[in-house]
Amino acid sequence: MDSTPQGESLPTHVDKHSPYTYLDKGFEILITPTPNTQTNVMKLFLDTAIVSDIEERVSTGLIDGITTNPTLIRKSGRDPWNVYRDIFKLGVKDLSIEVVGESSSTLVKLAMNVYENYGNVATIKLPCTTEGVKACKYLTNIGIRVNMTLVFSVSQAIMCSLAGATYISPFIGRMDDNSLNGLDLIKHIGTIYRSQQIKTQVLAASVRDVQSVAKAFEYGADICTIPPKVFDSMCSHVLTDAGLEKFKEDANF
Ligand code: G3P
Repeated sequence: MDSTPQGESLPTHVDKHSPYTYLDKGFEILITPTPNTQTNVMKLFLDTAIVSDIEERVSTGLIDGITTNPTLIRKSGRDPWNVYRDIFKLGVKDLSIEVVGESSSTLVKLAMNVYENYGNVATIKLPCTTEGVKACKYLTNIGIRVNMTLVFSVSQAIMCSLAGATYISPFIGRMDDNSLNGLDLIKHIGTIYRSQQIKTQVLAASVRDVQSVAKAFEYGADICTIPPKVFDSMCSHVLTDAGLEKFKEDANF
């Protein structure tokens, strides 16, 4: 029971067992997140290039990165560089920016340009092709994060990890669209990466529903990148809504 007299300011309070510092100022509670020291935990990224969608959701403190691709940028109807700049300004720590080119030298050149603009916030997204893998090897050797995209097989996952990729993005929804099993691929890659102690992280992409998020994590994905609609559904359950309705009703007698 809260015995704080109404209207009286609450004292500043630091909960040593919480990952957050709670600064109580009267009834307005400011929460300052401390750096997350747990590195090997599942993470959610948001898969969108709509800046307002990102802005609305980053305030939850539950989103560790943003992934974009040329199709998402096109859907936004905006210039890519304006989109990246606006996402950067939101304080996002990890932003996947895709570069498009045929040769590894073009990919590296474009990647360096991105890196010069966004530094460590940028993760360079490269296609999982021979040229992409070559570019990945070069960029990771000089300490630039790379997300290898359009991964559809275990052999591709192996090549990406040998090239030092930070992330690989298996597209699970697109596999299902083509009568393949996207989640099985996550499981298979997860097993190999764990047995070989591979540091490359599995970033499940093309995720279209909350059940796939849960399964992807169960099968060893490190990160799921999800569209805003799926993010919004993560906290919802029909029984929660029904229970809440009943509690509200009963609270009013
Ligand atoms: O992150 C990749 C994602 O944007 C692709 O999703 O639904 O177009 O297959 P989708």
